[in-house]
Amino acid sequence: MTLGTLLLGDKCPNFKAQTTQGPIEFQSWKKDSWAILFSHPEDFTPVCTTELGAVAKLNKEWESRAIKVIGLSCNTMESHEKWILDINETQNTIVKFPIIADFDRSVATLYGMLDGQDPTNVDKKGMPLTVRSVFIIDPNDTIRLMITYPASTGRNFDEILRVVDSLQICDLHKVATPVNWKKGEEVIVPPTVKTEDALKKYPKLNVVKPYLRYTSL
Ligand code: BEZ
Repeated sequence: MTLGTLLLGDKCPNFKAQTTQGPIEFQSWKKDSWAILFSHPEDFTPVCTTELGAVAKLNKEWESRAIKVIGLSCNTMESHEKWILDINETQNTIVKFPIIADFDRSVATLYGMLDGQDPTNVDKKGMPLTVRSVFIIDPNDTIRLMITYPASTGRNFDEILRVVDSLQICDLHKVATPVNWKKGEEVIVPPTVKTEDALKKYPKLNVVKPYLRYTSL
């Protein structure tokens, strides 16, 4: 595996880091939970402040799905600790998840989080900062989703939560989920399952086409 060229299905690389909740070794911290590792470009910036506030407000949703969440930027611990007070104040929330202080960029490099395109997304020395990366990692330490947003565009963390819901239900029931699916809605029976077998399992199977079959669970 080359640094920064992770693929879906790879094991998440392990690392040691300093965080706002103490030092961690990533895989020991994560244990056998689902986890979301996400980076932001820089502390005390407006879009990042709204994003981390949104992640904090979803705390009950992460907890109810047994998902551990951890943030990361190349800022120092001191910076993170001061900024968390601003996030809490301005976004009317409480940040309960740890944030990694990846000052030497070791984790950002390992996970391919550094900006390769935006000449303004750099520190005072001109070194690239992180972009808005998200990794969803399953209980077996397998990377199941990677997204990379540019610094200028805040993410939609409801969408990240929706993907976890999809992954969890697809793993459990061996199904797939259609466009814009939300938890509780009908799912898709994958083409690998014969219709006669699907009907035995799902008597209310809705066969729109031989390859397009919906069911409730
Ligand atoms: C922001 O969070 O507002 C931001 C950070 C880096 C580049 C652009 C925007």
